[in-house]
Amino acid sequence: MTVIGIQRLHGKAERDNDDLVMKNQTSETKNKTMKIVVIGGTGLIGTKLVNNLRQQGHEVVAASPSQGINSVTGEGLAAALAGAQVVVDVTNSPSWEDQAVLEFFESSTRNLLAAEAVAGVRHHVALSVVGTERLLASGFFRAKMAQENLIKASPIPYTILRSTQFFEFAGGIANSSTDGQTVRLPPALMQPIAAADVAAVLADVAVAAPVQGTIEVAGPEPIRLDEFVRRYLSATRDARKVETDAHARYFGIEVNDQSLTPGVNPRLGAISFETWLRTSANKK
Ligand SMILES: NC(=O)c1ccc[n+]([C@@H]2O[C@H](COP(=O)([O-])OP(=O)(O)OC[C@H]3O[C@@H](n4cnc5c(N)ncnc54)[C@H](OP(=O)(O)O)[C@@H]3O)[C@@H](O)[C@H]2O)c1
Repeated sequence: MTVIGIQRLHGKAERDNDDLVMKNQTSETKNKTMKIVVIGGTGLIGTKLVNNLRQQGHEVVAASPSQGINSVTGEGLAAALAGAQVVVDVTNSPSWEDQAVLEFFESSTRNLLAAEAVAGVRHHVALSVVGTERLLASGFFRAKMAQENLIKASPIPYTILRSTQFFEFAGGIANSSTDGQTVRLPPALMQPIAAADVAAVLADVAVAAPVQGTIEVAGPEPIRLDEFVRRYLSATRDARKVETDAHARYFGIEVNDQSLTPGVNPRLGAISFETWLRTSANKK
C-alpha cells in the first residue's frame, strides 16, 4: 500500500514550488465556505465532524437513514449532494456478518461515487482503518479493503484517512472477546486514539485539497491490546478480568505487533488514553 504524506520525492526547488502551490491551494480552499455532506453524520465520528465543520462556517449536511438519506438504497442522495464540493463517508454497516458488511460497503461506496460524479463533487473523503491490508482474514476488513479499492478506481479525487482503533471502541473489543467474566486478548501492540482527535483530523482533510492517497492517524502513545482493555474495564468499574493469551483472537483473527500499528509518520492525536479515561470513559 502506498501511504502518501505531503512530501514528494523530487528536487528541492521543484518541491518548494510544489509546497507553495499546495499551501496556496490549501489556504484558498480553507478560506472558502463549502457545502460538505457527511454520510454517516449522526454516528460517533460523524456527529463530531459535523460540529467541527459547522464551527468553521461550512454548510454541512448530516446524512443518514434517519435523516432520509441512505447510501445503500440511494434514497435522498441526489438532493443531498446537489451543489456539494466535498463528501465525507463515515458510515458503518449495521451488520458485521461477512457477506452483509461486504455488500454494505460495496453498494454504499458505488452509490456515493456515482451520485458524486453527477453532482460534480470535487473531493471524496473516507475513513478507514490502519492495517486493513494486514487484517484480511476478517470479513469486516475485506469489506473496508473493497471500499478503499472502489474509491481508488473512481475518477473522483479522493483522500482516505486510515485511523487506529478509537478509545471509544474499547468496550466493543471487550464484548467481542468475553467468555463469562473473562476477556481473553493477545498482547499485540496498538496505538488507539480519541474519536474527537479523528474528527479533528478529518475536518482538516475535508477542507484541504485531495491527496489522491492515504494518510494515517494514530493516538499519541502505543499500548498493548490486553492492557488497553484492562485499563478501560477498571476505569469503568467493570468486574470482568482480562486474561493475556498470545493466541487469543481479535475479532476472529490472529494479530501481532505489526497488525494494528501505523507506519512511519502518522498524524498523531493529542488526547492521551489517561486523559480520555478520566474525562470521557464514563460519559459515553
Ligand atoms: N471503531 C473503530 O475503532 C474504528 C477505527 C478506525 C476506523 N473506523 C471506521 O470509522 C467509520 C465510522 O465509525 P463510527 O464508529 O463513527 O460509526 P457509527 O457510530 O456506527 O456510525 C455509523 C453511521 O453510519 C450511518 N449509516 C448506517 N447505514 C447507513 C446508510 N445505509 N446510509 C447512510 N448512512 C448510514 C449511521 O446512521 P444511523 O445512525 O441513522 O444508523 C451512522 O450515522 C467506520 O467506517 C469504521 O470502519 C472505526
